[in-house]
Amino acid sequence: MTSIFRHNSISPVTIRHPIVQLFQTPRRPNIFILSIGINPKLQKICGEIDYPIECLTSIIPFLNENVAMISMSILKVEIDAIHNKTKEALDKTYELSMNPPTSRLLPLCLKSCINHYNAILESKQRILNAISMGDANELSMELSHNMEDVFACEEEFNKAKIESPITELNSLLVKIITNSLTIDVNMTNV
Ligand SMILES: *[C@@H]1O[C@H](CO)[C@@H](O)[C@H](O)[C@H]1NC(C)=O
Ligand SMILES: *[C@@H]1O[C@H](CO)[C@@H](O)[C@H](O)[C@H]1NC(C)=O
Repeated sequence: MTSIFRHNSISPVTIRHPIVQLFQTPRRPNIFILSIGINPKLQKICGEIDYPIECLTSIIPFLNENVAMISMSILKVEIDAIHNKTKEALDKTYELSMNPPTSRLLPLCLKSCINHYNAILESKQRILNAISMGDANELSMELSHNMEDVFACEEEFNKAKIESPITELNSLLVKIITNSLTIDVNMTNV
C-alpha cells in the first residue's frame, strides 16, 4: 500500500455530474489574498486543493498551537465540518418543510433531501473508522457517496423545476467534501 494517496482519480463520475458545473467556481490560482499571518504549512496544504479559501476559513477557527499542522488534522476538521454543515442543512430542510408548501412537489424534494442528509450523517462513523484503519479506498468511497447525496438532493429541485432553497449550503458542502477528497494525506501518519 502506498503511504500517500490522492483521491482525485476516484470521482470521475461525480465530476462529470451536471450539478457540479453549477457549483463550480473557476479554479483559483494558488496565490492567497488571505495569506497574511497564516501558517505557511497550512497555506501550502490548502493551496493545493480545489477550494483553498473554504479550506482556510473552515479550519482556521479550529486550529490552535497544539494542533500539528499536518494534512491529517485538516482532514479531520473537514470531516467535522461536513457533519456540522449537514446538520445545519438538515435543520433548514425540516424548517422549510414546516412552512406551507409553495409548490406541490416541494415537500417531496425536501423529504428526499432529508434522507440524503441523514445518509451523510450516518456515514461519519464509517469515515472515521476508515481513517483510523488507514483505509484510503474506503475513505474515498464514503466521501464520494456523500458528494452524490448532496448532488441528489439538489437534483430533486432541478427535476421539479423548483429553485433550490438550500443551494448555498449544498454548494458549501460540495466544496468541503471536494477538499476532503483532494487533500493529500499520508495515511501511515494516522
Ligand atoms: C462542529 O460542531 C461541534 C459541536 O457544536 C463543535 O464542537 C465543533 O467545533 C464543530 N466543528 C467544525 C469543524 O465546525
Ligand atoms: C508518511 O509518514 C510516515 C510515518 O510518519 C513517514 O515515515 C513517511 O516518510 C511519510 N511519507 C511521506 C511521503 O511523507
